[in-house]
Amino acid sequence: MPDANQKPAAHLLVVEDDPAMLIALRDILESAGYVVSPAPNGQVALEILGRERPNLILSDISMPIMDGIELFDSVRRIPDAATIPFIFLTARGTREDIFAAKSLGADDYITKPITSQELLAAVRARLQRTDELLVAQLKAAYKASLRALANAIESRDQYTRYHVERVNAYAQAVARELAWPEDRLETLEFGAILHDIGKISIPEAILRKTGPLSKDEWAEMREHPRVGARMIEGIPYLAPAVPTIRAHHERWDGSGYPEGVRETAIPETARLLAIVDAFDAMTSDRPYHSAVTADQAHTEITTQSGRLFDPAMVDAFDRCYQRGDVVRILRTYQALDAGKSS
Ligand SMILES: [Fe+2]
Repeated sequence: MPDANQKPAAHLLVVEDDPAMLIALRDILESAGYVVSPAPNGQVALEILGRERPNLILSDISMPIMDGIELFDSVRRIPDAATIPFIFLTARGTREDIFAAKSLGADDYITKPITSQELLAAVRARLQRTDELLVAQLKAAYKASLRALANAIESRDQYTRYHVERVNAYAQAVARELAWPEDRLETLEFGAILHDIGKISIPEAILRKTGPLSKDEWAEMREHPRVGARMIEGIPYLAPAVPTIRAHHERWDGSGYPEGVRETAIPETARLLAIVDAFDAMTSDRPYHSAVTADQAHTEITTQSGRLFDPAMVDAFDRCYQRGDVVRILRTYQALDAGKSS
């Protein structure tokens, strides 16, 4: 009985003009569990592509009617087929042939004669690489939409543009200085992107107020970490960022909000974000203050080491600052900003 959790068999389009070779390829691939659509030339392959979307195309190069290079070229022009991985199967295997295939952007080539193990290994590797690429593309698209959403919320606040991107870039630099593992860097990234998402519930009149906030307004403002955390706690992919969002205004000495927790009771991602968020707030024009220089903001951060901020993290921030990493990030986004407004 088929395993319900098993992925559906990958579907391969195999294009080969030698009938014996085509049957052999088909047998090897089918006995490994793949679904195979055979085609004797590029023309037939294109007809199949008109009604099917294989996961991979394996094609001979020299064939009558339409050869492999021409087929590859045509496939790349079909919008939703252009990303199907393509492996050339070549008997010639000359340098020129391989060079032509590679320069066209073919993903791989196999030189005939080939053993069934080699064939299966190449197909498996290519399919796996494609899966990884798709996951990576999906993640990138996900993050881009999150950034767009976060920036839309920030824009109500009249922050300078790129607040979210800058905060994340500073945070990543400091986290790398602290040698954090990859998975924590990603949690930090989501936290950096989404930290102020709870501000969506705060009226613009409060966000843009230049004078001091009233007691009630301030109470509302102090809720944004909790609101943000509640907004995403039900989304499994983002849930790891919840502690960072909830605690990004907590302070080392317990003077922060909303809980007033202190020192290592504050998640480390939130302790780090607190530093870079403060640095970015100081170096940006806000409704209630104008920007200070990077050096002034850096001095303020180091002064608050062990008071508002975790001293070990301030040290790491300081090392990044002394190396010029922080200012480089600041300048990069200033240049981007200037480019967009001109
Ligand atoms: Fe915040």
